Amino acid sequence: MSKTIAVIPGDGIGPEIMNATLRVLDALDCGLEYDTVEAGMVALDKQGDLLPQATLDAIAKHGVALKGPLTTPIGGGFTSINVTLRRHFDLYANVRPAISFKGSKARYENIDIITVRENTEGAYLKEGQTLSDDGETAMSQVKVTRKGSERIVRYAFEMAKAKGRKKVTAVHKANIIKTASGLFLDVARKIAAEYPEIEFNEMIVDNTCMQLVMNPYQFDVLVTTNLFGDIVSDLAAGLVGGLGLAPGANIGASVAVFEAVHGSAPDIAGKGLANPCALLLAAADLLDHIGQVAKGDRLRAAIRETIEQDREHVTPDLGGKGSTSSFADALVKRVAA
Ligand code: NAI
Ligand code: MG
Repeated sequence: MSKTIAVIPGDGIGPEIMNATLRVLDALDCGLEYDTVEAGMVALDKQGDLLPQATLDAIAKHGVALKGPLTTPIGGGFTSINVTLRRHFDLYANVRPAISFKGSKARYENIDIITVRENTEGAYLKEGQTLSDDGETAMSQVKVTRKGSERIVRYAFEMAKAKGRKKVTAVHKANIIKTASGLFLDVARKIAAEYPEIEFNEMIVDNTCMQLVMNPYQFDVLVTTNLFGDIVSDLAAGLVGGLGLAPGANIGASVAVFEAVHGSAPDIAGKGLANPCALLLAAADLLDHIGQVAKGDRLRAAIRETIEQDREHVTPDLGGKGSTSSFADALVKRVAA
């Protein structure tokens, strides 16, 4: 069965890591077809638009996109393309797995934590941010809705169920931010009661950060509001050795965009040094999302074996002497074997 996805190679190292990723997907033989479209600087240069309508149309049509990192020009009043995509398609769930690999500068072995972050409300509103005329007082509103909280917590539990996860932790600050965080926690408790087979606990965000560093093995799935999720998911990425291995998904009711968490890395673009693992792991999550869970598992296992056993092929950020393409070659061999 073939399925077409929108592919956005992106800027900087984007085309290199996308090329590596698509080669591996082809070797996996998962019947994917690619509708390649542009966004970012490459789109601005060629089409005069950072996010052309044809790109939005392709994402809407296929419902699933694999996206390389995009450079948002500084100055000129450009809104981040990633933020625009999130708003346009109401991609309310930001799902960020943190998985450790041996020999990858991970602080711990055997970490496997997924952060599910609410992506559309919380403290990240455009509106409600004011600065007094004298510049002395800034105000910033936080918006948490029952509907927004319900859908993100439900997403976390449904994902936990589908992936055979055992525990969901709601991360909050309801002791101090009584209304906004309190509403989120209230909703989380109610929804948790609908999933008696999955253990539920709640933890205050500052303690969560400390616990993640001291004893990360107590965590399985974390669900939280926008700002806390931004911070906690980066902390979790740090536990497993940084952004070169961190995939992310932005998921809405009808569209899902899979990407690497890192940016376009202009400092190493074109040199063959970029680690494609984050985008490859995002591709594995994409396969899960479209129901090809066995292929997703196979890809994840092959990435693990290649990082842990083919040390000569891993990229320099993981301590190897390999390149983007030598890593992809090694992975292609493994998945095709
Ligand atoms: P960055 O993530 O591009 O780079 C930070 C550091 O990590 C650099 O030293 C880079 O070489 C290294 N790095 C990143 N990815 C790597 C990989 N796959 N393999 C090996 N090393 C890697 O962050 P930075 O420099 O802050 O941003 C650069 C550009 O990327 C900016 O224009 C920013 O707007 C954009 N960006 C885009 C994102 C997206 O599209 N999702 C996310 C973050 C930044
Ligand atoms: Mg962040």
